[in-house]
Amino acid sequence: MSQNNYQNPNAQAMAPSAEPDRQLYFIKVLRERMAKYMTDTGRTLTYNVVTFGCQMNARDSEKLSGILESVGYTRTDSEDADFVIYNTCTVRENANLKVYGRLGTLKKVKENRPGMLIALCGCMMQEPHVVQKLRDSYRHVDIIFGTHNIYKLAELIYDRLESGSMIIDLWKDTDKIVEDLPNRRKYPFKSGINIMFGCNNFCSYCIVPYVRGRERSRRPEDILEEIRRDVADGVVEVMLLGQNVNSYGKTLENPVTFASLLEEIEKIEGLERIRFMTSHPKDLSDDLIQVMARSKKICPHLHLPLQSGSSRILKRMNRKYTKEDYLHLVEKIRSACPDISLTTDIIVGFPGETEEDFQETLDVVRKVGYDSAYTFIYSKRNGTPAAAMEDQVPEHVIKDRFDRLLKEVQDIASHVCARHEGQVMDVLVEQINHQDAGLVTGRLGNNTVVHFPGDASLIGRIVPVHLIECKGFYYMGELYEKR
Ligand code: 5AD
Ligand code: SF4
Repeated sequence: MSQNNYQNPNAQAMAPSAEPDRQLYFIKVLRERMAKYMTDTGRTLTYNVVTFGCQMNARDSEKLSGILESVGYTRTDSEDADFVIYNTCTVRENANLKVYGRLGTLKKVKENRPGMLIALCGCMMQEPHVVQKLRDSYRHVDIIFGTHNIYKLAELIYDRLESGSMIIDLWKDTDKIVEDLPNRRKYPFKSGINIMFGCNNFCSYCIVPYVRGRERSRRPEDILEEIRRDVADGVVEVMLLGQNVNSYGKTLENPVTFASLLEEIEKIEGLERIRFMTSHPKDLSDDLIQVMARSKKICPHLHLPLQSGSSRILKRMNRKYTKEDYLHLVEKIRSACPDISLTTDIIVGFPGETEEDFQETLDVVRKVGYDSAYTFIYSKRNGTPAAAMEDQVPEHVIKDRFDRLLKEVQDIASHVCARHEGQVMDVLVEQINHQDAGLVTGRLGNNTVVHFPGDASLIGRIVPVHLIECKGFYYMGELYEKR
Protein backbone atom coordinates (compact mmCIF):
# COMPACT_ATOMS: atom_id res chain seq x y z
CA MET A 1 0.00 0.00 0.00
CA SER A 2 1.26 3.50 -0.71
CA GLN A 3 0.11 7.06 -0.26
CA ASN A 4 -1.49 6.69 -3.71
CA ASN A 5 -4.32 4.49 -2.50
CA TYR A 6 -6.25 7.24 -0.76
CA GLN A 7 -8.20 8.96 -3.48
CA ASN A 8 -10.39 12.00 -3.55
CA PRO A 9 -10.91 12.62 -7.24
CA ASN A 10 -13.24 15.55 -6.66
CA ALA A 11 -10.68 17.88 -5.18
CA GLN A 12 -9.61 19.44 -8.49
CA ALA A 13 -13.26 20.21 -9.29
CA MET A 14 -14.02 21.56 -5.85
CA ALA A 15 -10.89 23.65 -5.26
CA PRO A 16 -11.34 27.42 -5.15
CA SER A 17 -9.75 29.16 -8.13
CA ALA A 18 -8.16 32.10 -6.27
CA GLU A 19 -4.81 31.85 -4.47
CA PRO A 20 -3.78 31.28 -1.74
CA ASP A 21 -7.18 29.68 -0.92
CA ARG A 22 -6.72 27.10 -3.66
CA GLN A 23 -3.43 25.87 -2.18
CA LEU A 24 -4.79 25.95 1.37
CA TYR A 25 -7.57 23.72 0.11
CA PHE A 26 -5.15 21.19 -1.42
CA ILE A 27 -3.08 21.24 1.76
CA LYS A 28 -6.18 20.32 3.74
CA VAL A 29 -7.18 17.53 1.35
CA LEU A 30 -3.68 16.06 1.42
CA ARG A 31 -3.41 16.40 5.19
CA GLU A 32 -6.55 14.31 5.66
CA ARG A 33 -5.30 11.71 3.20
CA MET A 34 -1.86 11.50 4.81
CA ALA A 35 -3.31 11.36 8.33
CA LYS A 36 -5.50 8.41 7.34
CA TYR A 37 -2.57 6.65 5.69
CA MET A 38 -0.37 7.15 8.74
CA THR A 39 -3.06 5.92 11.12
CA ASP A 40 -3.77 2.86 8.98
CA THR A 41 -0.13 1.88 8.57
CA GLY A 42 1.33 3.18 11.83
CA ARG A 43 4.06 4.89 9.77
CA THR A 44 5.35 8.45 9.95
CA LEU A 45 5.92 10.00 6.53
CA THR A 46 9.19 11.91 6.23
CA TYR A 47 10.50 14.59 3.88
CA ASN A 48 13.89 15.96 2.92
CA VAL A 49 14.48 19.20 1.01
CA VAL A 50 17.92 19.50 -0.61
CA THR A 51 18.89 23.05 -1.57
CA PHE A 52 21.44 23.96 -4.22
CA GLY A 53 22.61 27.50 -4.96
CA CYS A 54 21.83 30.88 -3.51
CA GLN A 55 19.94 32.39 -0.58
CA MET A 56 16.85 32.84 -2.77
CA ASN A 57 16.72 29.08 -3.15
CA ALA A 58 17.29 28.63 0.59
CA ARG A 59 14.29 30.86 1.19
CA ASP A 60 12.17 28.98 -1.36
CA SER A 61 13.12 25.76 0.41
CA GLU A 62 11.67 27.11 3.65
CA LYS A 63 8.40 27.68 1.83
CA LEU A 64 8.49 24.16 0.39
CA SER A 65 9.20 22.77 3.86
CA GLY A 66 6.31 24.79 5.26
CA ILE A 67 3.90 23.24 2.76
CA LEU A 68 5.24 19.71 3.33
CA GLU A 69 4.90 20.02 7.10
CA SER A 70 1.37 21.40 6.79
CA VAL A 71 0.48 18.38 4.71
CA GLY A 72 1.76 16.06 7.45
CA TYR A 73 5.33 15.13 6.51
CA THR A 74 8.01 15.17 9.21
CA ARG A 75 11.43 16.56 8.43
CA THR A 76 14.45 14.27 8.25
CA ASP A 77 18.09 14.98 7.35
CA SER A 78 18.39 11.84 5.23
CA GLU A 79 17.47 11.41 1.58
CA ASP A 80 16.07 8.01 2.56
CA ALA A 81 12.68 9.69 2.99
CA ASP A 82 9.11 9.41 1.71
CA PHE A 83 9.30 12.74 -0.11
CA VAL A 84 12.60 14.08 -1.43
CA ILE A 85 12.79 17.35 -3.29
CA TYR A 86 15.83 18.93 -4.95
CA ASN A 87 15.60 22.69 -5.24
CA THR A 88 18.10 23.19 -8.04
CA CYS A 89 20.46 25.89 -9.28
CA THR A 90 21.74 26.41 -12.80
CA VAL A 91 24.00 29.45 -12.46
CA ARG A 92 27.04 27.29 -13.17
CA GLU A 93 27.31 23.97 -14.99
CA ASN A 94 28.74 22.02 -12.04
CA ALA A 95 25.55 22.57 -10.00
CA ASN A 96 23.63 20.80 -12.78
CA LEU A 97 26.02 17.86 -12.87
CA LYS A 98 25.64 17.37 -9.14
CA VAL A 99 21.87 17.01 -9.50
CA TYR A 100 22.13 14.29 -12.16
CA GLY A 101 24.65 12.42 -10.03
CA ARG A 102 22.49 12.49 -6.93
CA LEU A 103 19.37 11.53 -8.86
CA GLY A 104 21.15 8.32 -9.88
CA THR A 105 21.74 7.44 -6.22
CA LEU A 106 18.17 8.33 -5.33
CA LYS A 107 16.85 5.79 -7.84
CA LYS A 108 18.24 2.97 -5.68
CA VAL A 109 16.70 4.48 -2.55
CA LYS A 110 13.33 4.60 -4.28
CA GLU A 111 13.56 0.93 -5.32
CA ASN A 112 13.68 -0.01 -1.63
CA ARG A 113 11.02 2.43 -0.53
CA PRO A 114 7.63 1.82 -2.18
CA GLY A 115 5.51 4.95 -2.51
CA MET A 116 8.46 7.31 -2.26
CA LEU A 117 8.00 10.54 -4.21
CA ILE A 118 10.82 12.50 -5.85
CA ALA A 119 10.33 16.12 -6.91
CA LEU A 120 12.61 18.57 -8.69
CA CYS A 121 12.14 22.31 -8.81
CA GLY A 122 14.09 25.55 -9.11
CA CYS A 123 16.19 27.26 -11.76
CA MET A 124 17.55 24.20 -13.55
CA MET A 125 14.00 23.04 -14.34
CA GLN A 126 13.33 26.24 -16.28
CA GLU A 127 15.66 24.98 -19.00
CA PRO A 128 13.82 22.89 -21.63
CA HIS A 129 16.82 20.65 -22.45
CA VAL A 130 17.05 19.63 -18.77
CA VAL A 131 13.40 18.64 -18.63
CA GLN A 132 13.76 16.67 -21.86
CA LYS A 133 16.69 14.74 -20.38
CA LEU A 134 14.71 14.01 -17.21
CA ARG A 135 11.71 12.81 -19.22
CA ASP A 136 13.91 10.51 -21.29
CA SER A 137 16.33 9.12 -18.74
CA TYR A 138 15.10 9.81 -15.20
CA ARG A 139 11.64 8.26 -15.15
CA HIS A 140 11.81 7.76 -11.38
CA VAL A 141 11.20 11.49 -10.90
CA ASP A 142 7.56 12.14 -9.95
CA ILE A 143 7.09 15.92 -10.03
CA ILE A 144 8.91 18.65 -11.95
CA PHE A 145 8.16 22.32 -11.51
CA GLY A 146 10.05 25.59 -11.79
CA THR A 147 10.78 28.85 -10.05
CA HIS A 148 7.44 30.58 -10.64
CA ASN A 149 5.07 28.07 -9.08
CA ILE A 150 6.72 26.70 -5.95
CA TYR A 151 3.64 27.80 -4.01
CA LYS A 152 1.71 25.08 -5.91
CA LEU A 153 3.54 22.13 -4.34
CA ALA A 154 0.47 20.75 -2.53
CA GLU A 155 -1.63 20.78 -5.70
CA LEU A 156 1.15 19.12 -7.67
CA ILE A 157 1.50 16.35 -5.08
CA TYR A 158 -2.26 15.85 -5.23
CA ASP A 159 -2.16 15.62 -9.04
CA ARG A 160 0.70 13.13 -8.88
CA LEU A 161 -1.14 10.88 -6.43
CA GLU A 162 -4.31 11.00 -8.56
CA SER A 163 -2.70 10.44 -11.96
CA GLY A 164 0.03 8.00 -11.00
CA SER A 165 2.29 9.51 -13.64
CA MET A 166 5.05 12.14 -13.86
CA ILE A 167 3.70 15.67 -13.34
CA ILE A 168 5.46 18.50 -15.16
CA ASP A 169 4.32 22.06 -14.51
CA LEU A 170 6.59 24.76 -15.89
CA TRP A 171 5.83 28.41 -16.53
CA LYS A 172 7.96 30.66 -18.70
CA ASP A 173 7.31 33.73 -16.55
CA THR A 174 4.71 35.13 -14.16
CA ASP A 175 3.49 38.42 -12.81
CA LYS A 176 1.90 36.67 -9.83
CA ILE A 177 3.15 36.85 -6.25
CA VAL A 178 1.26 34.54 -3.90
CA GLU A 179 1.39 35.57 -0.24
CA ASP A 180 0.41 33.91 3.03
CA LEU A 181 1.20 30.25 2.56
CA PRO A 182 2.82 28.07 5.25
CA ASN A 183 6.48 28.59 5.95
CA ARG A 184 9.08 26.69 7.94
CA ARG A 185 12.00 28.93 9.02
CA LYS A 186 15.38 27.24 9.33
CA TYR A 187 16.36 29.44 12.29
CA PRO A 188 13.86 30.75 14.88
CA PHE A 189 15.80 34.01 15.33
CA LYS A 190 16.58 35.08 11.77
CA SER A 191 14.69 35.02 8.53
CA GLY A 192 15.08 35.65 4.82
CA ILE A 193 12.49 37.97 3.32
CA ASN A 194 11.93 38.10 -0.43
CA ILE A 195 11.39 41.69 -1.42
CA MET A 196 11.50 41.08 -5.15
CA PHE A 197 11.73 38.28 -7.67
CA GLY A 198 13.42 37.98 -11.06
CA CYS A 199 16.03 40.12 -12.75
CA ASN A 200 15.99 42.56 -15.68
CA ASN A 201 19.70 43.11 -16.05
CA PHE A 202 20.78 40.45 -18.52
CA CYS A 203 24.46 40.40 -17.62
CA SER A 204 25.79 38.58 -20.68
CA TYR A 205 27.12 35.51 -18.78
CA CYS A 206 24.10 35.00 -16.54
CA ILE A 207 21.18 32.60 -16.93
CA VAL A 208 19.15 34.04 -14.03
CA PRO A 209 16.98 36.46 -16.06
CA TYR A 210 15.96 33.53 -18.30
CA VAL A 211 15.06 31.18 -15.45
CA ARG A 212 13.71 33.59 -12.84
CA GLY A 213 11.83 35.88 -15.21
CA ARG A 214 11.23 39.61 -15.11
CA GLU A 215 11.64 41.77 -12.05
CA ARG A 216 8.63 41.91 -9.70
CA SER A 217 8.62 43.70 -6.35
CA ARG A 218 6.42 42.77 -3.43
CA ARG A 219 4.28 45.55 -2.00
CA PRO A 220 5.98 47.32 0.92
CA GLU A 221 2.98 46.67 3.19
CA ASP A 222 3.22 42.91 2.57
CA ILE A 223 6.95 42.95 3.32
CA LEU A 224 6.50 44.98 6.52
CA GLU A 225 3.67 42.73 7.64
CA GLU A 226 5.79 39.60 7.12
CA ILE A 227 8.68 41.09 9.09
CA ARG A 228 6.40 42.20 11.94
CA ARG A 229 4.97 38.71 12.10
CA ASP A 230 8.45 37.17 12.17
CA VAL A 231 9.61 39.58 14.88
CA ALA A 232 6.58 38.74 17.00
CA ASP A 233 7.66 35.12 16.53
CA GLY A 234 11.20 35.70 17.84
CA VAL A 235 13.15 36.94 14.81
CA VAL A 236 15.83 39.58 15.54
CA GLU A 237 17.61 39.64 12.17
CA VAL A 238 16.20 39.80 8.64
CA MET A 239 17.94 39.33 5.32
CA LEU A 240 16.10 41.14 2.52
CA LEU A 241 16.48 39.13 -0.67
CA GLY A 242 16.44 40.06 -4.34
CA GLN A 243 18.68 39.63 -7.38
CA ASN A 244 19.09 43.40 -7.48
CA VAL A 245 17.62 44.98 -4.34
CA ASN A 246 18.74 48.44 -5.44
CA SER A 247 16.07 48.49 -8.12
CA TYR A 248 13.35 47.46 -5.64
CA GLY A 249 9.98 49.12 -6.09
CA LYS A 250 10.50 50.64 -9.52
CA THR A 251 7.78 48.58 -11.15
CA LEU A 252 5.18 48.87 -8.36
CA GLU A 253 1.88 50.62 -8.99
CA ASN A 254 2.99 53.19 -6.41
CA PRO A 255 6.77 53.20 -6.86
CA VAL A 256 8.97 53.23 -3.74
CA THR A 257 12.74 53.17 -3.40
CA PHE A 258 14.79 50.55 -1.61
CA ALA A 259 16.13 53.31 0.66
CA SER A 260 12.62 54.26 1.79
CA LEU A 261 11.66 50.62 2.31
CA LEU A 262 14.69 50.26 4.61
CA GLU A 263 13.62 53.31 6.59
CA GLU A 264 10.22 51.74 7.20
CA ILE A 265 11.73 48.42 8.21
CA GLU A 266 14.08 50.20 10.62
CA LYS A 267 11.01 51.41 12.58
CA ILE A 268 9.89 47.88 13.45
CA GLU A 269 10.33 47.49 17.18
CA GLY A 270 12.11 44.37 18.34
CA LEU A 271 13.99 43.97 15.07
CA GLU A 272 17.71 44.35 15.76
CA ARG A 273 19.56 43.68 12.52
CA ILE A 274 18.78 44.29 8.86
CA ARG A 275 20.81 42.73 6.05
CA PHE A 276 20.20 42.67 2.33
CA MET A 277 21.57 41.15 -0.85
CA THR A 278 22.38 41.48 -3.71
CA SER A 279 23.27 45.05 -4.66
CA HIS A 280 24.07 45.86 -8.27
CA PRO A 281 26.66 48.67 -8.30
CA LYS A 282 24.93 50.47 -11.17
CA ASP A 283 21.76 51.02 -9.11
CA LEU A 284 23.20 51.82 -5.69
CA SER A 285 21.85 55.28 -4.86
CA ASP A 286 23.26 58.09 -2.73
CA ASP A 287 19.99 57.91 -0.77
CA LEU A 288 20.74 54.33 0.14
CA ILE A 289 24.25 55.23 1.31
CA GLN A 290 22.79 57.97 3.51
CA VAL A 291 20.16 55.64 4.98
CA MET A 292 22.87 53.06 5.73
CA ALA A 293 25.06 55.69 7.37
CA ARG A 294 22.19 56.89 9.63
CA SER A 295 20.74 53.50 10.47
CA LYS A 296 21.19 51.78 13.81
CA LYS A 297 19.96 48.44 12.50
CA ILE A 298 21.36 48.02 9.00
CA CYS A 299 24.45 45.85 9.37
CA PRO A 300 27.80 47.37 8.35
CA HIS A 301 28.20 44.97 5.45
CA LEU A 302 27.66 45.39 1.74
CA HIS A 303 27.91 42.64 -0.83
CA LEU A 304 28.81 44.47 -4.02
CA PRO A 305 29.55 42.12 -6.92
CA LEU A 306 32.46 43.35 -9.03
CA GLN A 307 32.55 40.47 -11.56
CA SER A 308 35.60 41.97 -13.29
CA GLY A 309 37.94 44.90 -12.71
CA SER A 310 38.46 45.53 -16.41
CA SER A 311 36.20 48.17 -17.96
CA ARG A 312 36.52 46.43 -21.31
CA ILE A 313 35.29 43.12 -19.88
CA LEU A 314 32.60 44.84 -17.80
CA LYS A 315 31.22 46.28 -21.02
CA ARG A 316 31.16 42.84 -22.64
CA MET A 317 29.48 41.55 -19.48
CA ASN A 318 26.78 44.25 -19.88
CA ARG A 319 27.35 45.41 -16.30
CA LYS A 320 26.86 49.10 -17.12
CA TYR A 321 29.68 50.47 -14.93
CA THR A 322 33.43 50.91 -15.39
CA LYS A 323 36.32 50.10 -13.09
CA GLU A 324 36.47 53.79 -12.17
CA ASP A 325 32.70 53.98 -11.45
CA TYR A 326 33.05 51.01 -9.13
CA LEU A 327 36.04 52.42 -7.25
CA HIS A 328 34.32 55.79 -6.95
CA LEU A 329 31.23 54.12 -5.51
CA VAL A 330 33.37 52.26 -2.97
CA GLU A 331 34.96 55.56 -1.97
CA LYS A 332 31.54 57.17 -1.43
CA ILE A 333 30.37 54.23 0.66
CA ARG A 334 33.55 54.18 2.75
CA SER A 335 33.42 57.90 3.46
CA ALA A 336 29.79 57.63 4.67
CA CYS A 337 30.27 54.30 6.50
CA PRO A 338 33.99 54.08 7.40
CA ASP A 339 33.81 50.72 9.15
CA ILE A 340 31.78 48.87 6.56
CA SER A 341 32.79 45.40 5.38
CA LEU A 342 32.70 44.91 1.65
CA THR A 343 32.37 41.51 -0.01
CA THR A 344 32.08 40.65 -3.67
CA ASP A 345 31.66 38.14 -6.50
CA ILE A 346 34.31 37.82 -9.20
CA ILE A 347 34.26 35.76 -12.38
CA VAL A 348 37.55 34.59 -13.85
CA GLY A 349 37.95 33.64 -17.50
CA PHE A 350 35.07 35.50 -19.10
CA PRO A 351 35.40 35.22 -22.92
CA GLY A 352 38.11 37.53 -24.23
CA GLU A 353 39.69 38.12 -20.80
CA THR A 354 43.43 38.82 -21.28
CA GLU A 355 46.20 38.87 -18.69
CA GLU A 356 45.91 42.68 -18.70
CA ASP A 357 42.19 42.47 -17.95
CA PHE A 358 42.91 40.04 -15.16
CA GLN A 359 45.53 42.40 -13.72
CA GLU A 360 42.82 45.09 -13.58
CA THR A 361 40.71 42.73 -11.47
CA LEU A 362 43.65 42.13 -9.11
CA ASP A 363 44.13 45.88 -8.93
CA VAL A 364 40.54 46.46 -7.76
CA VAL A 365 40.85 43.61 -5.26
CA ARG A 366 43.94 45.29 -3.78
CA LYS A 367 42.44 48.78 -3.79
CA VAL A 368 39.10 47.83 -2.19
CA GLY A 369 40.39 45.35 0.41
CA TYR A 370 37.40 43.00 0.56
CA ASP A 371 36.51 41.13 3.75
CA SER A 372 35.83 38.19 1.49
CA ALA A 373 35.23 37.47 -2.16
CA TYR A 374 33.39 34.63 -3.86
CA THR A 375 35.49 33.71 -6.87
CA PHE A 376 33.98 31.76 -9.76
CA ILE A 377 35.38 30.17 -12.86
CA TYR A 378 33.37 31.38 -15.84
CA SER A 379 30.80 28.77 -16.80
CA LYS A 380 29.30 28.81 -20.26
CA ARG A 381 25.49 28.87 -20.03
CA ASN A 382 23.68 28.03 -23.25
CA GLY A 383 21.31 30.73 -24.38
CA THR A 384 23.27 33.60 -22.84
CA PRO A 385 25.07 36.09 -25.15
CA ALA A 386 28.48 35.24 -23.66
CA ALA A 387 28.11 31.57 -24.64
CA ALA A 388 28.15 32.64 -28.29
CA MET A 389 31.27 34.77 -27.92
CA GLU A 390 34.17 33.34 -29.89
CA ASP A 391 37.22 34.01 -27.76
CA GLN A 392 36.58 31.57 -24.89
CA VAL A 393 39.63 31.40 -22.58
CA PRO A 394 41.47 28.02 -22.39
CA GLU A 395 40.89 26.04 -19.21
CA HIS A 396 44.52 25.96 -18.02
CA VAL A 397 44.78 29.76 -18.33
CA ILE A 398 41.59 30.22 -16.30
CA LYS A 399 42.78 27.80 -13.64
CA ASP A 400 46.09 29.64 -13.25
CA ARG A 401 44.33 33.02 -12.93
CA PHE A 402 41.80 31.58 -10.53
CA ASP A 403 44.53 30.28 -8.21
CA ARG A 404 46.35 33.61 -8.27
CA LEU A 405 43.13 35.51 -7.55
CA LEU A 406 42.16 33.22 -4.71
CA LYS A 407 45.54 33.64 -3.03
CA GLU A 408 45.36 37.44 -3.34
CA VAL A 409 41.80 37.53 -1.99
CA GLN A 410 42.67 35.31 0.97
CA ASP A 411 45.86 37.19 1.88
CA ILE A 412 44.05 40.52 1.86
CA ALA A 413 40.95 39.21 3.66
CA SER A 414 43.00 37.80 6.53
CA HIS A 415 44.45 41.27 7.20
CA VAL A 416 41.17 43.10 6.68
CA CYS A 417 39.18 40.75 8.91
CA ALA A 418 41.67 41.12 11.75
CA ARG A 419 41.03 44.85 12.15
CA HIS A 420 38.72 44.31 15.11
CA GLU A 421 41.11 42.11 17.10
CA GLY A 422 41.03 43.08 20.77
CA GLN A 423 37.68 44.88 20.52
CA VAL A 424 34.36 43.96 22.14
CA MET A 425 31.58 43.61 19.56
CA ASP A 426 28.02 42.26 19.42
CA VAL A 427 27.55 38.73 18.16
CA LEU A 428 24.26 37.10 17.22
CA VAL A 429 24.73 33.53 18.41
CA GLU A 430 23.49 31.05 15.80
CA GLN A 431 24.43 27.54 16.86
CA ILE A 432 26.57 25.17 18.86
CA ASN A 433 29.94 24.85 17.11
CA HIS A 434 30.02 21.81 14.81
CA GLN A 435 33.54 20.75 15.83
CA ASP A 436 33.57 21.57 19.53
CA ALA A 437 30.37 21.31 21.57
CA GLY A 438 31.86 23.60 24.24
CA LEU A 439 31.80 26.50 21.78
CA VAL A 440 29.02 28.50 20.16
CA THR A 441 29.19 30.16 16.75
CA GLY A 442 27.70 33.46 15.73
CA ARG A 443 28.20 36.51 13.53
CA LEU A 444 29.26 40.10 13.94
CA GLY A 445 27.14 42.80 12.30
CA ASN A 446 29.65 42.81 9.44
CA ASN A 447 28.96 39.09 8.97
CA THR A 448 32.33 37.78 10.24
CA VAL A 449 32.03 34.46 12.06
CA VAL A 450 33.00 34.29 15.75
CA HIS A 451 33.45 31.18 17.91
CA PHE A 452 33.54 31.41 21.70
CA PRO A 453 32.89 29.24 24.78
CA GLY A 454 29.16 29.08 25.55
CA ASP A 455 26.08 26.89 25.58
CA ALA A 456 22.72 26.50 23.88
CA SER A 457 21.08 29.12 26.15
CA LEU A 458 22.89 31.80 24.10
CA ILE A 459 21.43 30.76 20.74
CA GLY A 460 19.35 33.54 19.19
CA ARG A 461 20.75 36.19 21.55
CA ILE A 462 22.92 39.17 20.66
CA VAL A 463 25.75 39.32 23.19
CA PRO A 464 29.01 41.30 23.58
CA VAL A 465 32.08 39.23 22.76
CA HIS A 466 35.74 40.05 23.27
CA LEU A 467 37.42 39.27 19.92
CA ILE A 468 40.63 37.71 21.13
CA GLU A 469 42.24 36.34 17.99
CA CYS A 470 41.52 36.51 14.27
CA LYS A 471 42.26 33.22 12.51
CA GLY A 472 42.16 34.36 8.90
CA PHE A 473 38.48 34.79 8.20
CA TYR A 474 36.95 34.11 11.65
CA TYR A 475 37.54 35.08 15.28
CA MET A 476 38.02 33.16 18.49
CA GLY A 477 36.57 35.16 21.38
CA GLU A 478 35.06 35.07 24.81
CA LEU A 479 31.82 36.37 26.23
CA TYR A 480 32.41 39.84 27.60
CA GLU A 481 31.01 40.29 31.06
CA LYS A 482 31.01 43.76 32.60
CA ARG A 483 32.73 43.79 35.93
N1 5AD B 1 29.80 31.66 -14.69
C1 5AD B 1 30.44 31.88 -13.52
N2 5AD B 1 29.90 32.59 -12.52
C2 5AD B 1 28.66 33.10 -12.72
N3 5AD B 1 27.87 33.84 -11.92
C3 5AD B 1 26.70 34.09 -12.56
N4 5AD B 1 26.73 33.51 -13.77
C4 5AD B 1 27.94 32.89 -13.89
C5 5AD B 1 28.55 32.14 -14.92
N5 5AD B 1 27.96 31.90 -16.09
C6 5AD B 1 28.29 34.32 -10.60
C7 5AD B 1 28.30 35.83 -10.53
C8 5AD B 1 27.13 36.14 -9.65
C9 5AD B 1 27.12 34.93 -8.74
C10 5AD B 1 25.85 34.70 -8.02
O1 5AD B 1 27.38 33.86 -9.61
O2 5AD B 1 29.50 36.25 -9.94
O3 5AD B 1 27.28 37.35 -8.93
FE1 SF4 C 1 22.57 37.62 -13.14
FE2 SF4 C 1 23.35 40.14 -13.52
FE3 SF4 C 1 20.80 39.63 -12.76
FE4 SF4 C 1 22.82 39.25 -11.03
S1 SF4 C 1 22.18 41.22 -11.92
S2 SF4 C 1 21.10 37.83 -11.45
S3 SF4 C 1 24.49 38.55 -12.37
S4 SF4 C 1 21.76 39.05 -14.71
